[in-house]
Amino acid sequence: YWFFYHKGYKGMRYAFVHANMMRKLRLMILEASSKHTTQEYAGEERVAKLPRIQIIFDDGMTRGKVIIGNSIRHHKLLEDMNISSALGKYIVSEQYFSDDMNTYVYEFELAETDQLAFKNYKDFQLLCSKQENGTLFIDDRNRVPLHHTLIVGSTGSGKTYATYSLILQLLNFSTVPEIYFADPKCSALYVVGKSISCDKTAGSANEIVFLLQRFYEAMQKREQEAQEYLNNKLDSDFKDWGLQAHVLIIDEFSSFQSVVNTLDKFTRDRVNMYLTNIIQKGRQLGFFMWIIMQKSDSKILPTYLRDNLVFKVVLGQATDTTYQTAFEEYADLPKRNFQQGQGLYTFQGLTRQPKVCSFPTLKFDILKAVRTR
Ligand SMILES: Nc1ncnc2c1ncn2[C@@H]1O[C@H](COP(=O)(O)OP(=O)(O)OP(=O)(O)O)[C@@H](O)[C@H]1O
Ligand SMILES: [Mg+2]
Repeated sequence: YWFFYHKGYKGMRYAFVHANMMRKLRLMILEASSKHTTQEYAGEERVAKLPRIQIIFDDGMTRGKVIIGNSIRHHKLLEDMNISSALGKYIVSEQYFSDDMNTYVYEFELAETDQLAFKNYKDFQLLCSKQENGTLFIDDRNRVPLHHTLIVGSTGSGKTYATYSLILQLLNFSTVPEIYFADPKCSALYVVGKSISCDKTAGSANEIVFLLQRFYEAMQKREQEAQEYLNNKLDSDFKDWGLQAHVLIIDEFSSFQSVVNTLDKFTRDRVNMYLTNIIQKGRQLGFFMWIIMQKSDSKILPTYLRDNLVFKVVLGQATDTTYQTAFEEYADLPKRNFQQGQGLYTFQGLTRQPKVCSFPTLKFDILKAVRTR
């Protein structure tokens, strides 16, 4: 019986992990329900009323689902319960009620993410060639479509390197996007930008304002062209029209904003107008903004802009305030000892709650890579 109950036919390891997890989950639910319910339920009865628990692993046992039968008695309990401690090497990545509300589902995955490491650019390109066009990979498990992006993390958390890995992927798209670079610290990204798009790389605040203006004007031009396409097909976007994407990357966004704040009101208003328009209209037209900064402070990046950055990443060890401002409120963040390039992300419409991810370790010369195109 044990053998079949724990699916021993899928292998002994499967059965043992299954059995162990099941035991811990039952204990946990028992304990939690004794806190939730009143004394009128005697011990025996409580055991009898344990909800139905199902554990399913995927083939490689890297992720799976715990499905627990829902009932009025357990409804609130299931929502509040953090089952991660019963999952051993796994952590919960998403939790939700099934559509029919009959069960509560916890999706889990192995706690250690397999951070990809590339010793040379060839291997990186090979993985790029296996992606669906227009899609960016983060690691083995996580892929996202090109979109407005926010990357947050304290200094040294690997933001710029994460950005490199995304830029290198753009360079391997079948239609390579036009990339604009703004690096107010004139550091490494500036140099990378100069070798990719020399005339679209800016360092000083004035240059960046001008770059923003050019990006905005290019978008306006496309907006006019798009009218015709849109008349033919309402919900189409730049990909359907066979047009190239444009991506504007602003690293160290807070330094840029703090310099902008010292400029005249006319310029400040213009910058705001550009940013707002690009973020609101960009997706359909294929104009995307990637903002990189240390803290997603609402004084620097207004909430209405931040909310429209669809792909959000927080790298490294971050404060609760950083998580809150980036992701709004979430009860149980899968926080861990994040190293460089590792952290949490959300993508509106794809993730229900922040997910663990790790950007690849790049052990090759980035500058050489962008030059060998
Ligand atoms: N994915 C990675 N692959 C290889 N090295 C990395 C990676 N991420 C970070 N590093 C190393 O850590 C250093 C700091 O990373 P990075 O410059 O990306 O951090 P940052 O978040 O942009 O910091 P800052 O806010 O100071 O600009 C890099 O110079 C590099 O040596
Ligand atoms: Mg940086």
